[in-house]
Amino acid sequence: MNESIQTQSAGLATLGTYTHPSDPNAGTWIVSHADRPHAYRIVHRLPDGAARVDTVVDLDNLQAKLHKWHREGFVQQASEEPAPRPERHRFMQALRAAAQRDEARCTSPMKTTTIGSVHMPIGAGGPLVPPLDPAYLFSARSGNVLRDIVENRRILLIGHTGTGKTSLIEQIAACTEQGVLRSNMNGQTTIGDFVGFWTVKGGETIWVDGVLPTAMRDGLWLIVDEVDFAEPAILAVLTAVLEPAGRLLLKEKGNEIVTPHPSFRLFATANAVGAMSAFRHLYQGANVMNEAFLDRWRVHQIDYLTPDDEALVLTRRFENRVSSGMARTLASVAADCREAFAREDLSSAFSTRRLIDWTALMLRTGDPEAAAGPTIYAKVTAEDAALIRNIIRHHIALDG
Ligand SMILES: Nc1ncnc2c1ncn2[C@@H]1O[C@H](COP(=O)(O)OP(=O)(O)OP(=O)(O)O)[C@@H](O)[C@H]1O
Ligand SMILES: [Mg+2]
Repeated sequence: MNESIQTQSAGLATLGTYTHPSDPNAGTWIVSHADRPHAYRIVHRLPDGAARVDTVVDLDNLQAKLHKWHREGFVQQASEEPAPRPERHRFMQALRAAAQRDEARCTSPMKTTTIGSVHMPIGAGGPLVPPLDPAYLFSARSGNVLRDIVENRRILLIGHTGTGKTSLIEQIAACTEQGVLRSNMNGQTTIGDFVGFWTVKGGETIWVDGVLPTAMRDGLWLIVDEVDFAEPAILAVLTAVLEPAGRLLLKEKGNEIVTPHPSFRLFATANAVGAMSAFRHLYQGANVMNEAFLDRWRVHQIDYLTPDDEALVLTRRFENRVSSGMARTLASVAADCREAFAREDLSSAFSTRRLIDWTALMLRTGDPEAAAGPTIYAKVTAEDAALIRNIIRHHIALDG
C-alpha cells in the first residue's frame, strides 16, 4: 500500500462522531472530510446544538486531537449516516489490480511475439503477410491498438491522410506473421467484391467468396480502407459482423452462415468521421457515419507522429543518407506546415507520406526546392505552395 492510500484509509477510519458516555455536558466532536484533499473538518457541538469549534486540520493534527479526546474519555459512535463513499478511495487501487490481472491473462502460453510491451499471438504466415518495414516505428500511439487486437475488438482508425493508419495495421501484421486483405471503399469496391458472387467457370456455375467471407474463413485480417465512402449495402453487411463473434449470412448463397475463424480481425480506416468530422470538407464525398455504427468499433484517432518520432523514421528509412540534424529540420518543416494547417493558413495537410517522398526526391536531386515541386507544390494550391516555400526557406538556407 502506498503512503497516500495509507493516509487516506487512516483518515477514513476516524470520520464520525465522538461523545462522552458519562458526561452529557461534554458535547459532541464531529469529524468529516473538508473540501480540500487530505484535510478534515472538526466541529464541536454543545448539548444545545451550538457549534463551539469549527475548524479544518490535516491528518497529523486530527490524530493529535483523537489522542486528546481518547484521554478525556470520548468514544467514537457507530456512524448513523453511511460512511462518505469509502469506495471512492479504493477504486483506483482495484482498477490497477484488475489491469495487472488483464495483462497477465494476455500473456498466453501460445506462440507470441512482443511489440512494445504487448504480447501478440503469432499468425499462420503465408503469402498475404505484408512485408516488414525495418524503418517502421511503433510509437506510443500503437499500444492501445495492439491490446484491442489481442482482445478481438473491431478497430476503426481515424485521422488525416498519411498519418499512418494503414501502415500501423500492416506492420503489426508483418511482425506477427498475419495475412492481410485490404479493400478500399472509395468507389472501387462493389458488394459483389466484398461479399461474393456467382459466376460461370468451365460450364459450371460456381460461388466466389468476396474479401469478407474469405478473411473470416481463413483467419486473415481485413482492412476496410476509407469506410466513410462505403455504399450502404456494404455498411449493412459490415454491421452484421461487427460483434466479436458476429457471423455473416450469405443470402445470395442460400443463406449460408460464415463463422469467423479465431484469428479473423476486422479493421477500418477513415479520414472524416467521429472526432475528425470537422474536416469533412477536405475529404469530399465522405459519408456521415451514424452513432450506432461507430459504437460498434473501438475508434482510435491517429495523429501525426511527433517531430522527434518523425525524424527518427526519416533516419531509419534513409539510413546514413539522412543525418539526425537533417531529419530534425525536415520534421520541423512538416510540423510547421501542420500548425499552419491547424490555424487554417494552409488548406492542405502535410502527411508523413509526403515528407518521406520529398526527402527521397531531394536525396536524388540534391535540391530541396526542386524536389518539393512534384512531391508537394504540384499537389496544392498556389497560395499553399507559396506558404510552404516560405516555411522551407525559414528552416533551410537554400544557398547555404
Ligand atoms: N510509425 C511509422 N513509422 C514509419 N513510417 C511510418 C509510420 N507511420 C507512418 N509511416 C509512413 O507514412 C506513410 C503513410 O502511412 P499510411 O499509408 O499508413 O497512412 P494512412 O493514414 O493510411 O493514409 P490514408 O488516410 O491516405 O490512407 C507510409 O509510407 C508509412 O510507411
Ligand atoms: Mg491508408
